[in-house]
Amino acid sequence: MNKSSKKDYEIRIDELIYKMTLAEKIGQVVQLSPSLFGAFGLTPDELIEKLVIGEISPEEFEKIDRNYHEDEIRQGLIGAMGGVIGAEKSNELQKIAVEESRLGIPILFGLDVIHGFRTVFPIPLAEACSWEPELMRETARIAAKEASAAGIHWTFAPMLDVSRDARWGRVAEGAGEDTFLASIIAASRVKGFQGEDLSSDESILACAKHYVAYGAPVGGRDYNTVDMSLQALHDIYLPPFEAAVQAGVATVMSAFNDINGVPCTTNKYLLTDVLRGMYGFDGFVVSDANSVAECAIHGYAEARKEASKKAIEAGLDMDMSKGTFAEDLPSQLEDGTISEEVLNEAVRRILRVKFKMGLFDNPYRTDKDKEEKVILCNEHLKVARDMARRSIVLLKNENEMLPLKKNLKKIAVVGPLADNGTDMLGTWAIVGRSEDVVTILSGIKEAVDSDTEVVYSKGCEIEGDKEEIKKTIEDASDSDVIIAVVGESSEMSGEAASRIDINLPGKQLELLKELHKTGKPLVVVLVNGRPLSIPWISENATAIVESWQLGVQSGNAIADVLFGDYNPSGKLVSTFPYSVGQVPIYYNHPMTGRPAGKIKFTSKYIDGPAEPLYPFGFGLSYTNFEYSNMSLSANKVTKDSKLKVSVDVKNTGKVQGEEIVQLYVYDVVASRVRPVKELKGFKKIMLKPGQLETVSIELDINTLGFHDENMNYVVEEGLFKIYVGPNSREGLEEEFYVI
Ligand code: GLC
Repeated sequence: MNKSSKKDYEIRIDELIYKMTLAEKIGQVVQLSPSLFGAFGLTPDELIEKLVIGEISPEEFEKIDRNYHEDEIRQGLIGAMGGVIGAEKSNELQKIAVEESRLGIPILFGLDVIHGFRTVFPIPLAEACSWEPELMRETARIAAKEASAAGIHWTFAPMLDVSRDARWGRVAEGAGEDTFLASIIAASRVKGFQGEDLSSDESILACAKHYVAYGAPVGGRDYNTVDMSLQALHDIYLPPFEAAVQAGVATVMSAFNDINGVPCTTNKYLLTDVLRGMYGFDGFVVSDANSVAECAIHGYAEARKEASKKAIEAGLDMDMSKGTFAEDLPSQLEDGTISEEVLNEAVRRILRVKFKMGLFDNPYRTDKDKEEKVILCNEHLKVARDMARRSIVLLKNENEMLPLKKNLKKIAVVGPLADNGTDMLGTWAIVGRSEDVVTILSGIKEAVDSDTEVVYSKGCEIEGDKEEIKKTIEDASDSDVIIAVVGESSEMSGEAASRIDINLPGKQLELLKELHKTGKPLVVVLVNGRPLSIPWISENATAIVESWQLGVQSGNAIADVLFGDYNPSGKLVSTFPYSVGQVPIYYNHPMTGRPAGKIKFTSKYIDGPAEPLYPFGFGLSYTNFEYSNMSLSANKVTKDSKLKVSVDVKNTGKVQGEEIVQLYVYDVVASRVRPVKELKGFKKIMLKPGQLETVSIELDINTLGFHDENMNYVVEEGLFKIYVGPNSREGLEEEFYVI
């Protein structure tokens, strides 16, 4: 428990600021990373590049000497470090800061713990498809336990960027296209990382990123400019950050992009007026890597010094780079270009977070034994398997092909992602190791009976040409079923991984077509970090299992679904386009005056459908659910009231299953055109065969508003339609009036 009560630490902060030299204050507002001594004759940046593209293995990377800046720590010039991993190393450096520096201010150790630490969970986009906020909170909690045991105090997560553009690689890191769902998930992940008590040894600081609207870059190209109305910004992209602040998030990270011409990192409206003034955020804001300096490249500052000044005066408290604030602030503070009070306020916010974490009273929160006991423990692996199963979305299941029997005579497993550990981890699995992964091939072999023959061949690379597939086709022709595991590598999504096309890379589609010619049932398992355009697969595969990148328990989770040990319950949180030409495409689009239709002069394409391949909220089960008897508690409601919506859901199939009942609303006439549907409630239920449940969802009428042309949040009177169903395209309909 944090011994410093709020009053104490405000006094202690004032005392510290009074004592701190200018250099010590600037040390607090800089986050340094251990710089890599040149190895393999490369510069540190070249090293990182080779690590990212896989030319240097993580194991080799770990062995490279690093400069941990011990001297600067001893001089009290470092307040935070990124990328220090391991209880021993962090305690060693913390000891220098606390016991050898003049004021003994502890260091914050940060790292990208995005979807698990060593126990790597499904990528965030996959977890979101479970529609289980409490389970996502649990996986974030486990990530915090493992990371804190390894000396980490602060994760640069959760990523809260709503995105409607599958070309953008970082769609993998978020919670999809819907603001309502993304806001609920934001709060869950923050609470998971931070726990009930931030000063607990198992809690780590969360960081709501990337503030804001980073997921709406022009062309889907990472880091590109963002231009939108203030109404769209406040209705679609800001709410998950407000939810994170309400959940108590300790830090926020500014985004690389500009919004309407002003970079987020130097944006006073965003960092001060909205985040602190409107939302009441009381933590600190860290830049994204080097994003302060890049404001000069944006052309928003003549030189880097000016960018630094604009950033800290806009409300940016900490610079995530080795040189910008550290080099640009001293002279501007000494000559009064920047007021020292501005610096003091940034330092105050950072020290306040360190006190809230209890770091001054308890700077050494872990040790080697604790680290070894917690990492990858069985309890964590069990949760990883359950989260992975629940993240899977069944997109097609012709003639109830799935689940497969475990005693089939012969199964042909084909594809470049079947016997692959690395690419099951997905993007941002910094500490994850491929040897920790249960591959899909292993999971299948483990699940089937001992006398079932499982034959495997890669068939082709993820990118590049098909191998000689004569033997592959022979084996497939002689099997009872073909399980083809295709998709993307981990590097094809995540940061700086936008794709101009979102088809299956390489020759994988050609491989599927060859397999399809055998006439055998073709089960396609997708491994990918974004929605893909898969019209041929949708038309020709017998079954399609969207498995995303499920982390260390991938193989077991996918086998659980393929062989019926778990009935898939996941639903899409990002629309699957028919073609990349439709992007950006999303379910909650406004009506137009000429909605897409059959006649010429309507909003359609002449060479393809306007509708997506699979809509938001879509996902099949091994059973069926019937919706009936929808009713509302009233047909006229006031703005400050709640409406209870009920519907009967029946399991009309032969096996038990879970259904995510979704509630959408449409404000038919308003002072600004409104989306044809907006998710405003959901409930996940389990039903046994034949069981019927009356599901009730309470609708808070005040959540039906939007920002009007004067930027006031309004709920307008008039007719609203309400839909309840299994996805954003189907369901029962009723209507009510707001009066
Ligand atoms: C990267 C990412 C950000 C990450 C940071 C530290 O550039 O944009 O999400 O947290 O740098 O690794």
